[in-house]
Amino acid sequence: MKPFAIAPSILSADFARLGEDVQTVLDAGADIVHFDVMDNHYVPNLTIGPMVCKALRNFGITAPIDVHLMVKPVDRMIGDFIEAGATFITFHPEASEHVDRSLQMIRDGGCKAGLVLNPATTPDCLEYVMDRLDMILLMSVNPGFGGQTFIPSTLDKLRHVRKLIDDSGLDIRLEVDGGVGVQNIREIAEAGADTFVAGSAIFGQKDYQAVINQMRAELAA
Ligand code: DX5
Ligand code: ZN
Repeated sequence: MKPFAIAPSILSADFARLGEDVQTVLDAGADIVHFDVMDNHYVPNLTIGPMVCKALRNFGITAPIDVHLMVKPVDRMIGDFIEAGATFITFHPEASEHVDRSLQMIRDGGCKAGLVLNPATTPDCLEYVMDRLDMILLMSVNPGFGGQTFIPSTLDKLRHVRKLIDDSGLDIRLEVDGGVGVQNIREIAEAGADTFVAGSAIFGQKDYQAVINQMRAELAA
């Protein structure tokens, strides 16, 4: 299992001063920048694309950037995000015509590849591509918006996917996204997650460091 990592979702950051806000949350102790890309087609919301990822790199953000693609089709965005400085690129399997090819494109571009499972998506689709994955992201809300409530069935799925990863012996990060906060991070970790996306729970507070410290304290407890 990977060391715990906290990945603030910049969906809830201040877009008018994004570079500064991302730097502030990293200075407060965040490990990974979670970058939500929505296309008003695969999900009913519209956010940011590769130009903004590139702008964060040009601003001086050096932390890993975890690009969560909620777009359909997928492949056209992969090359653009590789060039824009993404570290991880994850996508939803039902949004890609050829999942194996999309995963290969990501790795061929030097990025880490991952699949994202919606709350109702079964983990079966992982079986034949485990060796092509650096990350599995389990959605604990339906994708599209920040600030939603954690769906409890995710805990069972986390336990199941944790076992798949452990049995495979592969080095795959298990990330959870949606409704994560100080109040539930410990049980989510106990169910097997090692990487925690949190948007509103962090950016909704004035003192990012205080929230991140509370999360780490829960994880250490
Ligand atoms: C939802 C996004 C999430 C979202 C999480 O589609 O993938 O990353 O920002 O927001 P919170 O932490 O507020 O539930
Ligand atoms: Zn996300």
